[in-house]
Amino acid sequence: MSKKIFQLNGALHLESGEVLNDVQIAYHSYGELNASGDNVIWVCHALTANSDVFDWWSGLFGESQLYNPQEHFIVCANILGSPYGTTNPLSRNPESDKSYYLDFPQITVRDVVSLHQSLRIHLGITQFHTLIGASIGGHQALEWAIMEPGLMEHLVLLGTNAVHSPWGIAFNESQRMAIEADGSWGRGSKDDARAGLEAARSIGLLSYRNAKAYDRTQRDEPRRLGNYNASSYQRYQGQKLSRRFDAYSYWYLTHLMDSHDVGRDRGDIRHALSRVRARTLIFSFEGDYLFSQAENQLLADHIAGARLITMATDFGHDGFLIETDALTISLRAFYKSYSMNQQKINKSTGIGLIGYGVVGQAVYDQLRDRRDVRVTAVAVKDLTKDRNGLLQPALGSAYELISRDDVDIIIELIDDSEEAYHYVKSALLQGKSVITANKKMLAYHLPELEAIATRNNISLRYEASVAGAIPILDTLDRHFSQQSINSIQGIVNGSTNYILSSMRLESMSYEEALLKAQQLGFAESDPRLDVDGYDALYKAVILCYKAYGHYISPEQVSRDGIAKISKHDLGAAELNGERIKLLATVERSSQGVNIEVRPTNIPLTHPLASVEYETNAVMINTAQSDTTVLIGKGAGGQPTASSVISDLQKILSEKSEVGAQTEKVQPDLVAI
Ligand code: HSE
Repeated sequence: MSKKIFQLNGALHLESGEVLNDVQIAYHSYGELNASGDNVIWVCHALTANSDVFDWWSGLFGESQLYNPQEHFIVCANILGSPYGTTNPLSRNPESDKSYYLDFPQITVRDVVSLHQSLRIHLGITQFHTLIGASIGGHQALEWAIMEPGLMEHLVLLGTNAVHSPWGIAFNESQRMAIEADGSWGRGSKDDARAGLEAARSIGLLSYRNAKAYDRTQRDEPRRLGNYNASSYQRYQGQKLSRRFDAYSYWYLTHLMDSHDVGRDRGDIRHALSRVRARTLIFSFEGDYLFSQAENQLLADHIAGARLITMATDFGHDGFLIETDALTISLRAFYKSYSMNQQKINKSTGIGLIGYGVVGQAVYDQLRDRRDVRVTAVAVKDLTKDRNGLLQPALGSAYELISRDDVDIIIELIDDSEEAYHYVKSALLQGKSVITANKKMLAYHLPELEAIATRNNISLRYEASVAGAIPILDTLDRHFSQQSINSIQGIVNGSTNYILSSMRLESMSYEEALLKAQQLGFAESDPRLDVDGYDALYKAVILCYKAYGHYISPEQVSRDGIAKISKHDLGAAELNGERIKLLATVERSSQGVNIEVRPTNIPLTHPLASVEYETNAVMINTAQSDTTVLIGKGAGGQPTASSVISDLQKILSEKSEVGAQTEKVQPDLVAI
């Protein structure tokens, strides 16, 4: 198979915050992706290998090997920073029009994986049968299994670790010192530091093999004086590498190896490893001084259900390249043990997430470990901002995300209501169901958006837009749809209720309480939307539309906020046996339906009087069932996300109902 090149569309945003432009990836693929897309074997290569895995791992990959092109679609991509066709320090820097050399940015294992992810998407791959890697190939495979846990069914790690060890870093530093000690290092030519590179390789080899391996292969018999086998072997190996590699790529790739730490920005290593969902097999190699047995054991201890096999070998770390017959036997047994009662994995539904704020992060969190749905892409406004916990590569364009083939459902959770309107409309027009929490956008555009959704026979769902975790819209839809609703009255803004409670119960000033609500993530980016009553008003418009099918524009609603309410007012009301609450009221009268939002004195015995802090409550009064009150968390990331997830479940079950109906109808047609 010949090498292919994939040119990345757009810039590669690196973990360091730097950006690489004009990035390309060289890769090999063997065999064909099957119709169900479940025969992909993705190989991550180690330090100085290339994408031609049939060449360098021929004991495992080949026409008649365990991994073969008749059964599998095998992909191996050359890693970022390597000189075998992927962008590397000798590549042209588009800014200077010269090679990067030492201007190449710092790159990490996660950067390598995010580039792999782009290639995966380009190749139309949505699942891996197996992701396999040894050494720093194992670093990549492990990172990937943490970044996209639902992507791979099996994970095979050979001679690797969760964090590169001080011992490993010391070896790499020694190699870099050898390169840097070469007088031609840093002069700006591809042939710089060749002698340094040879010495570096000689040092590196000592960590890949061990005394036993040298005894076996380099012993001098009979013992000469000088010109020892081991000496010429070291020099030969150094020269061999120098003929196929360059000092700059080697220097950067050893740094990349040192960067490996799955725990970075993820709490700790154990927590990171607990995210892996794949069926995992780990191979450790006897006498591997670079990746110790203890390090492989740590992986097995913290990856759920992982199995560890220690391979007997005389070749230490290099055992993964040499002991391929024994590896094949163990791998076959591993697959067989799972295929006994294997359940077919359903093709997962792809979610496009727009926005990664308080609620976006919580939604992402709640979906991360699922296999039936997968967040395929996330669109954010500022790609340079640190996205704590975000494992998918972020996109700068929501439109690009909406039109991707692997995105089936859009979850829109941004702040800007105008932008949100355009994204939601565009998604609905493209026939993709949408979940949104954007109450302002909905309050202005609900009738139009609902009409598009109905026309296209898809769903627009927005439970999270009103009263956070409380399932009020679903309750109106399903439970009260046949009742005559007299009124809906509620505390539907968490921030203002939080402020009023804090002022009254904790004697906080208005400003302090507002600041606290902001810190807790309840408040809108522009808190005037909360305190002036707009947020409650938007929610009331949505409630009215749901309950009565009647749309009232926000401009027509009478509204007042809480900014003028003092601690004294709150205390005085209490003395009168009353409590001040910001209430949103939707009421039917003989003149039609009316909406109002204002601070209201209610008796202490009123069902809404005891609703404190960010808790919301909605009271529904109907001719048939009198008064029903729903109470729950009205704001905050996780509670609001729970309503988004509930909407998602409804869309998923609608989808499967449609599937089931189709199956039922077909046999009847055949019978006629
Ligand atoms: N700012 C809103 C509130 C967030 O405080 O209720 C939830 O819509």
